Amino acid sequence: MSGPVPQDVVVQAQDLRQVYAVRRGWLRASAQLQAVGGVSFEVRAGRTLAVVGESGCGKSTLARMVSLIETPAGGRLVLDGADVTHSTAQQRQGLRKTVQLVFQNPYGSLNPRKRIGATLEAPLAINTTLSRAERAERARAMLAQVGLRPEAAERYPHMFSGGQRQRIAIARALMLNPRLVVADEPVSALDVSVQAQVLNLLADLQAQLGLAYLFISHDLAVVRHIAHDVLVMYLGHAVEQGPKHKVFARPLHPYTQALLASTPGLDAGGARRRIVLQGELPSPLNPPPGCVFSTRCPHVADRCRAERPLQRPLDERLVACHFAEQIAEQFPAPPTGAA
Ligand SMILES: Nc1ncnc2c1ncn2[C@@H]1O[C@H](COP(=O)(O)OP(=O)(O)OP(=O)(O)O)[C@@H](O)[C@H]1O
Ligand SMILES: [Mg+2]
Repeated sequence: MSGPVPQDVVVQAQDLRQVYAVRRGWLRASAQLQAVGGVSFEVRAGRTLAVVGESGCGKSTLARMVSLIETPAGGRLVLDGADVTHSTAQQRQGLRKTVQLVFQNPYGSLNPRKRIGATLEAPLAINTTLSRAERAERARAMLAQVGLRPEAAERYPHMFSGGQRQRIAIARALMLNPRLVVADEPVSALDVSVQAQVLNLLADLQAQLGLAYLFISHDLAVVRHIAHDVLVMYLGHAVEQGPKHKVFARPLHPYTQALLASTPGLDAGGARRRIVLQGELPSPLNPPPGCVFSTRCPHVADRCRAERPLQRPLDERLVACHFAEQIAEQFPAPPTGAA
C-alpha cells in the first residue's frame, strides 16, 4: 500500500514494529523483546481509534511510536500525509503541531512549580511567533474551552483535582492546534464519575475541532463510550480490528470474546457465551510459535501452534484467526439494529 493517502486520514501506520534489547537471566544475556509485532491502522479526522488489550500487549509502545517519542524498528508511519517513520529531531519538533500526547497521570506530566498559564504558553513560545500577550490570551481561552475558569492560569497544579488536572493536560496538548491526539489511558487514574466528564469533554473537543484520537485503554467500558473503531492487541499483535459496533456486538477472535466476556456490564452479543481465559499470558521474550493466542485459546488446533494466522477481512473487520469463519458461524450476527 503506497498510493496517495486520502486527505482526511491523519495518521496511517503500516506494519509498525518495535523491538527492545533487554538483559535476561542471571547471566544477563541480551535478548530481543518484540513489543509490537506489525500493527497497521489509520485514523481519520474526527474519528477515534481505541487500542485495547491486557497489560504488556504493546499499547503504550504503539502510542510512543505514533507520537514520535520512539522511532519504529520497522514498518511505515505517515502523519498528515508525510512519511515520518525515520524523522529527524528537527522534523519531530515541527510535527508537535500535528501530534500531541496526553498521559495517564497528569500530575506527573505537569510541572508542579510552574503556573498553569506558563505551562500552556510554553509550546506557543517555542513554536509560534505570538506575542506574550497573545500567548496569555490563547492560554486563557483554551482553559475556558476545556471547562475551567480562565483564572486557573494563575494557579499551580496542586490546587486542582485529578479531573481538573487532566483537563489542563488536554488544554496543553491542544495549544498548537494538533490534528491528532494520542491519549494513553487518559482517564484510568480518575474516579468513574470524573472519567465520564473527561470523556465527554474529549468527545466535545473532537466535534468542535475535528481531532483524530488514538485512544489507549485497557477498559472496555471506557472504549465503548468513546471509540468509533477498535484495535484489539495481544502480545504485540493486532488480533481483531474494525468498527466498534461490529466488534462489540459480535466479537470474532476468541481473545476479543474472552476480553468482552470478562468485562462486567457489557452486553456483548456473541461474547455472552462465557469464555474464561486459561493459563498465563506468555512472556513477550518467549512468544508462542504460530498464533500468539494459541496457548490460551479454547479453539486451539495443531495448525494454530505451527502457523501464524494473517489478518483477513470478515464481517466488516480484520481478524487474525485460522478459524474465524467457523467461529462466526457459531455466533450468528445479531439482528440489524441490535448493535
Ligand atoms: N523501554 C523498554 N525496554 C524494554 N522493554 C520494554 C520497554 N518498554 C516496554 N517494554 C516491554 O514491551 C512490552 C509492551 O509494553 P507496553 O508498555 O507497550 O505495554 P502496555 O500495553 O502499554 O501495558 P500497560 O497496560 O501495562 O500500560 C512489555 O513486555 C514491556 O515490558
Ligand atoms: Mg501502557
